Amino acid sequence: MNTPFIGVSPEIQKIRETIDAISIDAALNVIITGETGVGKEVVARTLYESSPRKKKGFIKVNCAAIPETLLESELFGVEQGAYTGANKKRRGKFELADGGVLFLDEIGDIPFPLQAKLLHVLQSGEYNRLGSETNIKSDTWVISATNHNLREKIHRQEFRKDLYYRLNMFQIDIPPLRKRPKDIPELINHYTKTYKKKYSHREINDIDTPTFNRLCSFSWPGNVRQLISILHRIFLMGCDGDTLDEILYDPPCPTTHHSDTATSIHGQLMDEIRHFAINTPNDMTTFSLKEIKKNATDIVEKEVISQVLTTTNWNRTHASKILKISYKTLLTKIGQLDIQRPGY
Ligand SMILES: Nc1ncnc2c1ncn2[C@@H]1O[C@H](COP(=O)(O)OP(=O)(O)OP(=O)(O)O)[C@@H](O)[C@H]1O
Ligand SMILES: [Mg+2]
Repeated sequence: MNTPFIGVSPEIQKIRETIDAISIDAALNVIITGETGVGKEVVARTLYESSPRKKKGFIKVNCAAIPETLLESELFGVEQGAYTGANKKRRGKFELADGGVLFLDEIGDIPFPLQAKLLHVLQSGEYNRLGSETNIKSDTWVISATNHNLREKIHRQEFRKDLYYRLNMFQIDIPPLRKRPKDIPELINHYTKTYKKKYSHREINDIDTPTFNRLCSFSWPGNVRQLISILHRIFLMGCDGDTLDEILYDPPCPTTHHSDTATSIHGQLMDEIRHFAINTPNDMTTFSLKEIKKNATDIVEKEVISQVLTTTNWNRTHASKILKISYKTLLTKIGQLDIQRPGY
């Protein structure tokens, strides 16, 4: 069964409306962007499920996971005898996705030489298997996903601009979970039900209120994927208030306390840059280096102060000493940066 697309935030509601609008005729190629774990594949599958193409296949290709030499035959197929060892005809993903959806995951990693071939199919609607001259008509809805900033890749000449425009007839950008905190309780409730069902043979307690509040106020650098794996762990191992922070900053959220902060800051800064990259080309008046610098500083300060306050259990005297700022400055920053104490 497919994962339902959970979320009540205005951001997710807007994405849902977009999905409804563009899946009706499934004609415009869509690119889905967002940080790791935000739900790009969930959105791709929801697009497919909502479209008339759902009767045919949803074929996924992870462009980052397949070696460059194999990706071409993987996409377009191989004719018998095309090269030594090609002893039988093999259909490619384009052919398998005929009438359905071809989901090109991690599109930012598609090797440069192959980009021209992909562009050709998207432009002409035709391709041929390796070793064959016969053109095959392509009827697929191409949905791609990336957590790279493709505009940056275009700028570095690693990604073709013309291909970008072909793939990006419509963009769906999924904001990180920390930017849509209203979705967290919904996701917790949904996955609580899932795990209760999965582990119906053992008693699973509901999450207590302090834990629930802490989960709702965490910054989730690994987004929904991280939230699910933490919930899984809580349901299997149990957890009280004291162990929760250890769990939040422990594997499987991949790293230690400090690099977790770094991942989160990096994600937020990338958002800022992505926002700038999307808006500025259309509206130069929004560009201000001073403002970008101020936003970046606020993001870093807010994340670091929040983490130190969590570590010191909101002992502000202790936190101000660690941060080497006065107690008064810390209080001012907590107010200015709107740092919320979980559960208060
Ligand atoms: N809105 C959502 N509702 C329900 N489950 C979700 C939602 N968003 C993400 N998930 C779940 O979170 C996990 C990660 O989602 P997904 O694989 O779609 O992320 P992604 O953006 O493709 O990540 P990556 O960039 O790492 O490939 C999956 O288990 C998925 O089912
Ligand atoms: Mg994915």
